[in-house]
Amino acid sequence: AAIYRAGVFGHRPRVPVEPAALEAAARRRMSARAWSYVAGGAGQQRTAHANAEAFARRRLVPRVLVDVEDRDLSVEMFGRRLPAPLVLAPIGVLETVHRDADVAVARAARRLGLPMVLSSQASVPMEQVARALGDSPRWFQLYWSKDDDVVDSFVERAERAGCEAIVVTLDTHVLGWRTRDLDLGYLPFARGEGIAQYTSDPAFRRLVEARVAAAYRPSEPTPRPTPAAASALLAMSRRYPGRTRDNLRSPLPRAAVETFLDVFSRSTLTWSDLARLRARTTLPILLKGVQHRRDAALALDHGADGLVVSNHGGRQVDGAIASLDALPGVVEEVRERVPVLFDSGVRSGADVAIALALGADAVLVGRPWVYGLALASDDGVRAVMEHVWAELDLTMALCGVRSVDELGPEHLA
Ligand code: FNR
Repeated sequence: AAIYRAGVFGHRPRVPVEPAALEAAARRRMSARAWSYVAGGAGQQRTAHANAEAFARRRLVPRVLVDVEDRDLSVEMFGRRLPAPLVLAPIGVLETVHRDADVAVARAARRLGLPMVLSSQASVPMEQVARALGDSPRWFQLYWSKDDDVVDSFVERAERAGCEAIVVTLDTHVLGWRTRDLDLGYLPFARGEGIAQYTSDPAFRRLVEARVAAAYRPSEPTPRPTPAAASALLAMSRRYPGRTRDNLRSPLPRAAVETFLDVFSRSTLTWSDLARLRARTTLPILLKGVQHRRDAALALDHGADGLVVSNHGGRQVDGAIASLDALPGVVEEVRERVPVLFDSGVRSGADVAIALALGADAVLVGRPWVYGLALASDDGVRAVMEHVWAELDLTMALCGVRSVDELGPEHLA
């Protein structure tokens, strides 16, 4: 209501409210490479388009003459009451978007009181992001490394950094066929961006040091390692995001990038491996990237505490089902035994309302706040999320519902 009232009195918002205008403004601000990486999907972009199309196909059916003066958007999740069913999705490599990167996102999340999901591929080590978050809620997103020590170390660091859940992303054990990035010759990690979580990690550093000690030859010619190069690796993690490229000139950081590429994921992972993670932590474990309802059933069999229905924003399997179309089957399978979260294609509060009506318990927002970050750092992230939140509140009011629980399939055509 406050945002709307300000608009009535001529206040211009910090970033465009209309999703297409927000995207266009961010595109003008971002480098071609950053734009390609953030906005792009896999292959011919079919699934990225399908995500949007699936929302366009759904229609809410508003109800009238319900007293909706007092509305409560809060939801209970893993022992916390969240002020709205909104979560900031894990997004890696943010230093390509804005130099404040993850720290800006943390500041915005803290002001909003919404959970931030810290990415394994963050541009800033999680300890630093945790400081910016204060005591605001945070979850850690895990890419399950090929190296057990790195997995254990990440989980332990996440616990110490106050994370309240582990979100295991399962749909990216190999990177999708990112046509736009390939055409630009741009694979961000190979340049050293988005690996701060690794270079700041003791288990990972041991791997790099072992590689250098074993007569390491970088895949491209670079000078031999010097003592200075060793300290450059440490510096890499501490320096401000965006500086990693300069550090790449020395061979030890290059060894770090090559080690990262070798160990960042594990394609041999199967359901039985989840027990190992379960034994490592008492935190709730969410599985992100579930689309098939049989996988939802298997996830419950293997003790998952929550699911995130997601196709990674259409960035992995071109031609995969729209995430919104996968949602009802998973919801039906889960039958409210664990929370079902949703992402991929959400661009507005009305989109959030549709996903909630289809049975999601909360929604992760991805690209829209990245565009806000590009335009206005933490203020931009916050403004985008406030716009989504406000539109959700108004949409619920206009559909005649007072709480997230009341919104259901009966509000869809
Ligand atoms: C992502 N996503 C992602 N997911 C994850 O688990 N770990 C990560 O590091 C990243 N990194 C990442 C970078 C960029 C630039 C994008 C756009 C996405 C996926 C993300 O969490 C979420 O699933 C999608 O962004 C949802 O789709 P929309 O809402 O962006 O369309």
